[in-house]
Amino acid sequence: MKPCKITIDKDYIIGKIDNNLYSSFIEHLGRAVYTGIYEPGHPLADANGFRTDVIGLVRELNLEYVRYPGGNFLSGYRWTDGIGPKAERPRRLDLAWRSTEPNTVGIDEFAKWAKKAGTRVMGAVNMGTGTAQDAADMLEYCNFPKGTYWSDLRVKNGSPEPHGIKLWCIGNEMDGHWQICHLNAEDYGKKARETIKMMKWADKSIETVVCGSSHGHMATFPEWDRIVLEHTYDLADYISLHSYYSFRENRFDYLASFMDMENFISSVIATADYVKALKRSKKTMYLSFDEWNIWNDATERKGEWPEAPELIEDRYSLLDALAFGGLGITLINRCDRIRIACLAQLVNAIAPILTEPRGRVVRQAIYYPFMLLSKLGRGIALNPVVNIEKAESRHGAAPLIHAAAVYDEENKGLNLFCLNIADEPALLEIDTRSFGGEAMAVFEHLSLHGSELGAINTFDNPEAVRIKTLPIPKNIKNVELPGLSWNVLRLKCQTNN
Ligand code: AHR
Repeated sequence: MKPCKITIDKDYIIGKIDNNLYSSFIEHLGRAVYTGIYEPGHPLADANGFRTDVIGLVRELNLEYVRYPGGNFLSGYRWTDGIGPKAERPRRLDLAWRSTEPNTVGIDEFAKWAKKAGTRVMGAVNMGTGTAQDAADMLEYCNFPKGTYWSDLRVKNGSPEPHGIKLWCIGNEMDGHWQICHLNAEDYGKKARETIKMMKWADKSIETVVCGSSHGHMATFPEWDRIVLEHTYDLADYISLHSYYSFRENRFDYLASFMDMENFISSVIATADYVKALKRSKKTMYLSFDEWNIWNDATERKGEWPEAPELIEDRYSLLDALAFGGLGITLINRCDRIRIACLAQLVNAIAPILTEPRGRVVRQAIYYPFMLLSKLGRGIALNPVVNIEKAESRHGAAPLIHAAAVYDEENKGLNLFCLNIADEPALLEIDTRSFGGEAMAVFEHLSLHGSELGAINTFDNPEAVRIKTLPIPKNIKNVELPGLSWNVLRLKCQTNN
């Protein structure tokens, strides 16, 4: 058994975890919307056509925001196609995903869905084919109370109350050649600046996210980010990061993906801080990691221009859930600068929730670590000092245990998230001295592990991968973690220190 000492001191504060770290993303992509969240005629659909079985599982994730409507789809989307009487809405070719978009769900329907799912809309405006004026019009439609063309149109379309969308992405992955009307950094920076100006003039209460790089391995990274921030530093509130991880050849490299994520975050922070210095600014730029996940599916698109096709419907295994859980730990550890993070995506397309058209719904393996992070990863992030062996990975020397500690001051509870990427079990000695002598004890050990790393949840076997409860260790100086496991150790303070 590998020995590992973890010291957690209540004064080693990283920061308060923003609840927005537990957000997600729904794009008009494949079956995310149609037969995902929306399926009139489904036996469990409500009067608006929303699947209540899906809403039930979304609610359990306790999401702060859901980003909408894209994604690559956004850059060719005319938001006005999705409002007004459904029978009059145009069917369009969606060039991003080579699908047919029926437009029977638009911003009004999505705002209703978000309310029912207990979350809020993180809006996004088209910076590909769209203009700054289109973006300002959409904002006015969504947020202005009434008495103007756009706000009255919303009222006429059945939403008397404004949608009140407070957070907006200014385009999507505009650095990518795959993006409809992709721009260079200068052009995007200028366009984003003018768009934010108009949007904030119309509603000064909103916050905006400018597009950073689509991933840390883009040839234009980090120059793209620097140039965009030089144009927008004073006006934007966040810069975005996107990153997906996949299994290549080596399991250890895959499980150590959190190292790559950490490097990417550090580089974006360094770039943002460089621009801060350049501008002699007092403002700190925060990060919105608004697309993160595991993405292995590389299947070709089926047919030409299908409606709601099965696209990128990754079936996540236990192994994927472990690698995913490591990424979640990193997000907590960088909460000093990351204020928003969206699990991309939510339903069917690279998602924790999978549906059958007209049928059942299942929680995929990655659903569980995300649910536990969202439930138990709220509070103050403390910096755990992890003393453990390292091993070489594609991303550099990786610690065999990756951990995050979250302190809930109110309940005097400490949740320790630990990923063990070694095959061998680990023996943890947890030192919580600063909380008062031997005051801390583990009262619950939740764990994701198993002998079948390839196990997946299916409609017929929906619990092949699930969280297990392990016996409570008697002493925090002797806590066993199974080999290849993702864990939450819940500790409680025995005294009132
Ligand atoms: O989430 C799937 C796609 O990944 C999004 O549309 C795009 O922004 C990213 O490349």
